This record gives sequence, C-alpha cells and structure tokens, in this order.
Amino acid sequence: MIDISKYKNVVLLDHPLLKHKITNLRDKKTGTNQFRLLVKEIAVIEGYEALRHLKTKMIEIETPIEKTIQPVVDRKSVCFVPILRAGLGMADGMLELVPGATCGHIGLYRDEETKAPVEYYCKLPSDINEKEVFLIDPMLATGGSAIDAVEMLKKHGAKRITFICIIAAPEGVKAFSEKYPDIPLYIGALDRELNDKAYICPGLGDCGDRTFGTVKGEK
Ligand code: PRP
Ligand code: URA
Repeated sequence: MIDISKYKNVVLLDHPLLKHKITNLRDKKTGTNQFRLLVKEIAVIEGYEALRHLKTKMIEIETPIEKTIQPVVDRKSVCFVPILRAGLGMADGMLELVPGATCGHIGLYRDEETKAPVEYYCKLPSDINEKEVFLIDPMLATGGSAIDAVEMLKKHGAKRITFICIIAAPEGVKAFSEKYPDIPLYIGALDRELNDKAYICPGLGDCGDRTFGTVKGEK
C-alpha cells in the first residue's frame, strides 16, 4: 500500500458519512438516479472541507438590533472546474455550497487503447488568474486526466488550484503529487490499485457511464 504521508499535498478525508455514501456509490445495484444524488451529496461533504481556506471579506449588514460588519465569502473569487463528463455531477454539489461561483469546463476522455487523456473542450473564465480554482473529477486513476487538466488551467493563467476527487488509485496519487506537490489533493477514498484496463479496484466502475446512464458491459 502507498504511504500517502510522504505526499504533503494529499488530504484523505475520513468522515463516517462520507465513507457510508461512497460505499453506496460503489454498489453496482445503485441505479443512475441514486448514483447522481450520492455524487452530489459527496461533493458537498468534500467541498465543505476543501473550501475551508476560502478568504472572506467584510460587509455591513443590519440585524434586527443594529448595524454590524460581518464576513462573507466573495462568490466571484471562487471558480469550480469539472472535468467532463463525470465531474459535472460533483459541480452540482459544489454550487450548493457557493451558489453564484464561476464555473469553467474542461472536456477530456481517456483513449480506450492508450488510456491517455484526449482533450475535446475547454472554456474557462478570462480572469481565472484572480480566482481560487477547484478542479473536480470523481475518479483519479492513472492521473493522466487530472494532470492534463491542471496543465490547461495553468496555461490559462490559474495560480491557485485545488483538486478534489471521490476515489483515487495509488498510481494516480503518486503521479499527481510528484508532478504537482504544491497542489492540494482532496480524496474521499484511497483504493487498492488499477486493473489492466486502468480501472480503479474495487472502485465503482465507469463513473461517467453510471452518472449518465450509458453503462456498457462489465469492466
Ligand atoms: C474518467 C474520470 C476521469 C478519468 C480518470 O473519465 O472521470 O476524468 O476517467 O482516469 P485517469 O486518471 O486515468 O485519467 P473518462 O475518461 O471515462 O470520461 P467520461 O467522464 O466522459 O466518461
Ligand atoms: N475512470 C472511471 O470512471 N473509473 C475508473 O475506475 C477509472 C477511470
């Protein structure tokens, strides 16, 4: 088993409710509707932790008693970037935490033969350099997609990036953390290994297919 303590960027979350929901997510009996709901709920739990360092600004409000200066999150300073397709399910949960945050989108799919990510879409806010960017994708397998997505974010000027996933393979954690030791990596569950098709074991199967009901055969 990988010793993640040597990767200072990694935060392995361990809330019992998160564990419970990830177990249900893994279960092959869990259908599309329930699967989507769980991904959203898990994103809320993980996001709650990963966003704990957000800066606040002070505004004046009036309580029923008096005027007062109090902190609020500057929603415009937050940018969520789901990796299509599976990241979209998590974006719904993140937006429950910060409604009105900016969203960018990165489209990548893994080539079936090489398992290397192929880019097909990229739309990011022009002022991404000023934002706190949260890259989201439920699965970190080989790490190829997350690494390419960070590269795209950096090319567009992003300076402060955090990556949040639900299930990670040791191979992906190692590849990502060695490439980007300074980018915080939040993980809901750390699994055993990749199989020969680069699927995470025990994992949950193909997350995009399970989210959008396009499930093919057994993996
Ligand atoms: C899945 C997942 C990640 C990627 C992880 O997407 O959502 O983006 O695989 O694998 P990696 O770490 O080996 O790159 P997929 O390519 O299946 O696309 P999809 O979400 O459109 O189904
Ligand atoms: N992508 C998935 O959706 N599942 C895996 O197990 C690996 C990559």
